[in-house]
Amino acid sequence: MRISVIGLGRLGLVHAAALASLGHTFVGVEMDTERVRKIHDGTLEMHEPGLADLVRTALTDGTLDVTSEPSASLGARAHFLTVGTPELAPNEGFDASYLENALRTLAPSLQPGDLVIGKSTVPPGTAAALTAQLHRESPDAELAWNPEFLAEGTAVRDTLAPQRLIYGVSSPEAARLLDEVYAPILDTGTQRVITDLATAELVKLATNAFLATKISFINTIARLAATSGADALQTAQLLGADPRIGASHLHPGLGYGGGCLPKDTRGLAYFAQQAGVMEAAQFFAQVDAVNTAQRQHITEWVTAQCRGRQEPQVAILGASFKADTDDTRESPSIALAHALMNAGLRVRIADPVVTASCGADSRLEFVRTAEEAMREADVTLVATAWPDYQRLDPEELLSVVRCPLIVDTRNCLDPARWRNAGWEYHAMFDPVMRLR
Ligand SMILES: NC(=O)c1ccc[n+]([C@@H]2O[C@H](COP(=O)([O-])OP(=O)(O)OC[C@H]3O[C@@H](n4cnc5c(N)ncnc54)[C@H](O)[C@@H]3O)[C@@H](O)[C@H]2O)c1
Repeated sequence: MRISVIGLGRLGLVHAAALASLGHTFVGVEMDTERVRKIHDGTLEMHEPGLADLVRTALTDGTLDVTSEPSASLGARAHFLTVGTPELAPNEGFDASYLENALRTLAPSLQPGDLVIGKSTVPPGTAAALTAQLHRESPDAELAWNPEFLAEGTAVRDTLAPQRLIYGVSSPEAARLLDEVYAPILDTGTQRVITDLATAELVKLATNAFLATKISFINTIARLAATSGADALQTAQLLGADPRIGASHLHPGLGYGGGCLPKDTRGLAYFAQQAGVMEAAQFFAQVDAVNTAQRQHITEWVTAQCRGRQEPQVAILGASFKADTDDTRESPSIALAHALMNAGLRVRIADPVVTASCGADSRLEFVRTAEEAMREADVTLVATAWPDYQRLDPEELLSVVRCPLIVDTRNCLDPARWRNAGWEYHAMFDPVMRLR
């Protein structure tokens, strides 16, 4: 089947390249011509394990074509919309205009029986509004919603072997076409669930808000542990060992970031507020507030440590919002760097894949290596759990820093190794990190 994908960002390019490897022919339409050029050149703008190889193979064997020309969608039977749905402004809900524009430019290429499939994350009601738009512009085409649950860092694997497929559809024909698209994945026994449009929209937002809630919940518990003499990490492990709770997303630390969890949690709060369900709006707003509070605690603690020092310097190890991605959207690490800079500290930041040219703020002092970031540092903060930092040599680094004080905000280092080498090591929720 010929399939088009509109929007080749972190979701769309993975979707097109991964499904192209399963036997369909894809055309990807991306309005950013520079992004299209880089995809053709093999210089992808994103670090996603396995993606570069998939894209290269698909372009070479002709199962993927990438262009900025909207009419290239003509002749495809299924059309995925994978454009962004950023916030209109913080706490003001999702901007659906990219979806509306994508649908408008797609409409002239649609033929009777074509299926347009929304994959972007949206609040309930968006698909119904887009259906009305579609029927005005292309009465014989249909719209479905098929939310995406991939995680950056494992996006290729998650796309090829999803835990479940959700089809928000209005007709059996739409479900049949989606079955054809996903046939190789369904053949492996993957569960597929048919819902209405609103359920498909809500389950995606609810999933991200639930994961965010788990993270903020464990960070709240970890702070209570720090005030009560309990061990925060052991409490988290024991909580996660309860099968009714589950261990994922129960790692106390600097909090969540990225292009999805923060936006979707605030987006659900806004949706609840608009729906007049104020306790839900307050609940999700509080999840977001707990998340940003983690950075404030660290900023206050580090600033207090540096008080009285001459030209204090902080090293931040890790800029991406998590390991295995170069995504710095709403990265807690970058937010922390800004807060520390605003508090008057000099901050150097290093990351295995993020460089200053990756779109992060130009005021930040990016350096190539952890060692460069740590030169003359008064405090070193591990802000992203890259495995590279577990391989650092604490003994060698003693002579690099001004003060051997390290805060492991992701609890990813071996504390004994650092302490034995002569460092003052603190995990994020050590009682000593308690401020108020
Ligand atoms: N990134 C993820 O891990 C992930 C996972 C699941 C769902 N989502 C959701 O998927 C959507 C896209 O997210 P993303 O991270 O890929 O965003 P992104 O910003 O990386 O990519 C969006 C792309 O769409 C392009 N685009 C916008 N309008 C277009 C148009 N009219 N025609 C052609 N191209 C157009 C942009 O230039 C950009 O390249 C969002 O709703 C997001 O919440 C993302």
